[in-house]
This record gives sequence, C-alpha cells and structure tokens, in this order.
Amino acid sequence: MRKQIVAANWKMNGTLEQANSLLDAFAAAPLTVNENKIAVFAVPAPYLMLAKEKLSGNPYLQAAAQNCYSKKSGAYTGEISVEILRSIGISYVVLGHSERREYFAESNAFLAEKVNIALAYNITPIFCCGEPLAIREAETQNAYVATQLEESLFHLSAEEVAKIVIAYEPIWAIGTGKTASSAQAQEMHASIREVLAAKYGAAVAAGISILYGGSVKASNAVEIFGQPDVDGGLVGGASLIVDEFIQIINA
Ligand code: PGA
Repeated sequence: MRKQIVAANWKMNGTLEQANSLLDAFAAAPLTVNENKIAVFAVPAPYLMLAKEKLSGNPYLQAAAQNCYSKKSGAYTGEISVEILRSIGISYVVLGHSERREYFAESNAFLAEKVNIALAYNITPIFCCGEPLAIREAETQNAYVATQLEESLFHLSAEEVAKIVIAYEPIWAIGTGKTASSAQAQEMHASIREVLAAKYGAAVAAGISILYGGSVKASNAVEIFGQPDVDGGLVGGASLIVDEFIQIINA
C-alpha cells in the first residue's frame, strides 16, 4: 500500500517566533497520522533542527528540507548538502519545485543529479513536476510532465524509483487561488502512473505516492485527496494557517 502524505511547503516565510508557534501548534494538534499517513514540514533551512526537535514526539510528523545541492560537500558557498541534512536527521527533501526551476534555472538534468545524491544518503526526494499555463492551454501537459519524469528519474533502477515521492503541481495553480479540478488532478496523476508503469511495471508504479499541489485548502482537500491516484498534497499558503492545515492533514 502506498503512503498518503501531506507536505507543508513554508517556502521563504516566517520568523523564528512564527516557526516556533506553528510547530508547537502542529505538534500538539489532534492529527490522524500513522504509519501510512504522514505529514511532512518543509521549513526554511535555519529552522530544520528546531522542526526536528519540536516534531520528535510523533514519528509520523517529519521535517523536510526545501532544497539541497547536488554535491556531497565542498566549496559551494550558501548551498546545503545531503550530507549535512543527513547528519541532522532529515529524511525528506523537496526537489525541483517550480519556483526553483523558474528563479534558479534548475533543469531536469541538474535535478537528476540532486535525486541521485539524495537517494545515496537515504533521503526521500519529493520530486516536483508540473506544467505552465501555456502548456496546459496547448493541451500538451501530459507529454510535458512525462519528459520531466524521464529526464530526471528514468536513469534510476526500479528499486530506486520506488523510494521517490512525486508531487504534481500545475504552475498555473500555485499561489494563484486557482486549483486544478479534482478531475484534472486525477487525469494527470493517472497519466504519471501510466508513464511510470510503462518504464518500471505496474507494481512499482502502484507503490509510488503522487501528491497534488497548487492552492490546496481545507475546502478542497477532501475532494482532491479522494481521487484514486491522488495520495496527498504539497501545500504552500494554507500550510501556514494552523486550523486550515490541520484540516488538510486530516483530510
Ligand atoms: P500553494 O503552493 O499551496 O500556495 O499554491 C503550493 C506549492 O508551491 O507547493
């Protein structure tokens, strides 16, 4: 059975004081998490150790990095390695968010290197994919996303790819208040699973968690997460609002 995951993506938001109060609130909240339903908090890097500590009472609440570099260590000022993340006990890293692709020019090939090094350090990549509006309007989104998967993941063995979490985030729905309809999400998630199945076989594809991201809120989470191929969400704005995010996790 594949895991259901709700991941918070705080992005570049929140002071230390706010991070403390959010983490305290989530650690104390009544959350329906268990071995197969986990919540992950991708916090700004300076708060990773704090998040580890605050969430340590519940094994189903995990801290995640929002990014990492593709090298093990060395003269890369400002970057964070998986070796550093591993050494502080971090087990998840978001890779290839559309904001990283757009503002920091991260390519599919570069992301393939990051995926490799994360897996080498036993850190689960939450690999983001998704199309811009122009591609959606041209109705070529399935091929576009398939290429992202092929170029960043398809060099992996079946055993390796089985360790990845995929997050589908249509760029036109991120932070815009526009959500893909549950039917659009399901259609793309099924397409991603088909692409994975064609390469790795149906059993491997059936085991990979595929999260939806893009304006997920308490009011739409139940319907979106209820789709057969949607295994949870990657949530930006609403993950900074305690009551909203508790409801999303519990959805
Ligand atoms: P949003 O962001 O929920 O604010 O749309 C999602 C994301 O970028 O991961």
